Amino acid sequence: MKVTVVGAGAVGATTADNIARKELCEELVLLDIKQGLAEGKAIDMMQTSALLGFDTKITGSTNDYAKTAGSNVVVITSGIPRKPGMTREELIGINAGIVKGVTQNILEHSPDAIIIVISNPMDTMTYLALTSSGISKNRIIGMGGVLDSSRFKYYLSVALNCSPADLQAVVIGGHGDTTMIPLTRLATYNGTLVSNLLDSATLEKVAADTMVGGATLTGLLGTSAWYAPGATGAALVESIVRDEKKLMPCCVRLDGEYGQSDICIGVPVVIGKSGWEKIIDFKLEDKEQAAFNKSAEAVRGMNNVLATLSKTN
Ligand code: 2OP
Repeated sequence: MKVTVVGAGAVGATTADNIARKELCEELVLLDIKQGLAEGKAIDMMQTSALLGFDTKITGSTNDYAKTAGSNVVVITSGIPRKPGMTREELIGINAGIVKGVTQNILEHSPDAIIIVISNPMDTMTYLALTSSGISKNRIIGMGGVLDSSRFKYYLSVALNCSPADLQAVVIGGHGDTTMIPLTRLATYNGTLVSNLLDSATLEKVAADTMVGGATLTGLLGTSAWYAPGATGAALVESIVRDEKKLMPCCVRLDGEYGQSDICIGVPVVIGKSGWEKIIDFKLEDKEQAAFNKSAEAVRGMNNVLATLSKTN
């Protein structure tokens, strides 16, 4: 197995670190446009291999896509991260050009790769990677819902004073502060509905904290978070390379599922060796469906900006 991570910033490097520690592939390429950055981080990580006991071989590359040739999975983290006070949506102009170029370069050298998109605004960047490449929709996966669901479980675990691993909780919709939808009604604590254990004010606060989970960290750190996004990227790679068929909420292209079409947005999907293999399309309550439709409209609005950008370029 060969995996490439494009972008050796904090998110890309953390993704690569998690992939190596879990030995998800024999070969791992870390690529960045900044001279020496990917090479330096790759060697630094390799110097942990004796301590951590992994055999994945990590190679760094300054923008030489030939080194990524034959990758089975590629994770795109390139682009500028948010600064405090910025929304993910404000990154669209700069990151669109970057993600489009990266996708083309990747597919030139790894025509069969499955692509995971982390760059923001993630829903629109996933849509762009899909529409600009024309590859099968099952091979393009945006990671937002997995990250948002992990944050949802974290905040629920704090409220319940329990292990996050004992929680099942899903966030669907867009990966934006106002577009994500934590499905509070369906969250369970080892099979018991959390709505039986927490009052509605606490549940509403958990959902609100989840929605601004990334923004809260950007305010504290001065830039986007990286540990949870990096662990999320690696979790997706794991389900693909080990064909785990895990059910994960991811941003994928919808063709009528959940009442939406021609959009990439977060829904529960099965992730395996072919990419996203199946959408689990279940009936939402009216209120949830209305929130999903509103989220889709917001994501569609951002996707429409792409058309404006390509006209001005
Ligand atoms: C986040 O929510 C990077 O979008 C990512 O932290």
